[in-house]
Amino acid sequence: MTDMADSSRQRFLDACACRPVDRPPIWMMRQAGRALPEYRELKKKHSFIEMVQTPDLATEVTLQPIRRFAFDAAVMFSDILVIPEAMGQGYTFREEGGIQMDFSISSQRDVERLHTEGVVDRLEYVSQAIGQIRRELDGQTALLGFSGSPWTLANYMMEGGSASEFLQARRLFRTEPKLFEQLMEKLTVAVSDYLKMQAEAGVDAIQIFDSLGGMLSSEEYEGISGSWIRRVIESLQGAVPVILFSRGTAGSLQELVQTNAQILGLDWSISLAEARSRMPATMGVQGNLDPSILTTTPEIAARETTRILEEMRGQNGFIFNLGHGVTPDAKIENIESVVATVKGFK
Ligand code: CP3
Repeated sequence: MTDMADSSRQRFLDACACRPVDRPPIWMMRQAGRALPEYRELKKKHSFIEMVQTPDLATEVTLQPIRRFAFDAAVMFSDILVIPEAMGQGYTFREEGGIQMDFSISSQRDVERLHTEGVVDRLEYVSQAIGQIRRELDGQTALLGFSGSPWTLANYMMEGGSASEFLQARRLFRTEPKLFEQLMEKLTVAVSDYLKMQAEAGVDAIQIFDSLGGMLSSEEYEGISGSWIRRVIESLQGAVPVILFSRGTAGSLQELVQTNAQILGLDWSISLAEARSRMPATMGVQGNLDPSILTTTPEIAARETTRILEEMRGQNGFIFNLGHGVTPDAKIENIESVVATVKGFK
C-alpha cells in the first residue's frame, strides 16, 4: 500500500481500491474525440470506423488527450457499438449525424441472427490496440477499457441507431419478456467475453457505460439492467476493477450498489458526498462535473471543479470525472483549467 502515489497509474489504482492518494486522479469520458483539433485533422484522412479498427490509429487517438492534458488515465479509443457489429449487426454514420445500424432487432429471427461465438476473435484489433497503447504509456498512465451495458446496447440495437426516444427495448421486455431475455443473455455473454479479453490484453480498469440506465424506474432497474451487469462483473472474477457509469439513475443508487462494481460513476444530478454516504465504504465514486461547464470560461470551470474537490476532501476512493462525456463544443482552455485545478488541489 502506498499513501503517496508515485505515478498517475498508481494514483488511479489506489483510488480504485479506496486507498489514500495525494490528490484524486482525473480523466474524462469521451476525452478522445471531437473537441480536439488533432482528432479532427486525423478524421479528414480516416473514417471513424477505420480509426477504431486500425490499432495504430486507435493508439494515436487514445494518446492525443494524454499528450495535451496529462490525464491520470487514458481510455482506449473505440465505441460501444463494436459489440453489435461483432455479433453481426454493423453500423455506419448518418450524413446528418448520429449512428445507423444496418438493421434493427425486433423479432425472434433477428435475435437468432446475432452470434456470440467468435465475437472475441472478430475484436482482435481491440486487443492489439490495447497492447500497443500499454507499451506507449510505459507504465506511467493508467489504461481503461470499456463496454456498453447489455441494456444500453439492446436499446441501440432495437432502435437501429441513435434515437430521440428509446422505446423499443422497454416495449419488448413488457410484451415479449422471453425474447427480451434471449437478447440480454446473448449480450451478457458477448460483453463478458469481450471484457475478459480486454483485461487479459492489459487494461488497468474497465468502465461499463450504462448510459441509458435512467430509462428505467428504480423498481425495474435491477431486473432489467442491474442483474445483467452484476453477471458481467461476476464473470470477471476481480481481474480488474470495474467502474459502473450509469446515467440518470440517482434514484436507483441501492440497485447500482448491488451490481458489485468497485466504483460508481455518477452524473451531476446527485451530490457525490450524499451518494458516498449511502454507499459501502469499500466502494468508490467517480464524477460528476456537468460537461456544459467545459463550454463556459476557465474561471467558472475552476470554481465548479474546486466545489466538487472540497465536497470530497479527505475521502478515499474518489476519481474526478465529468458527469457524462466531453461535448464537441468543449473549449480546450476550460479542460486545461479543470485539470490544473485537480492537479493543484491541496
Ligand atoms: O471516451 C473516450 O474518449 C473513448 C471513446 C468512446 C467513444 N464512444 C468514441 C466516439 C467511448 C467510451 C464511447 C462510448 C459510447 N458510444 C456510448 C456510451 C457513452 C455515452 O456517451 O453515453 C454510446 C452511446 C456510443 C454510441 C455512439 N458513438 C454515439 C451515439 C455516437 C455519436 C454519433 C453522433 O454523430 O452524434 C458515437 C460516435 C463516437 N464515438 C464519436 C467518438 C469520438 C464521434 C465520432 C466523430 O464524429 O468523429
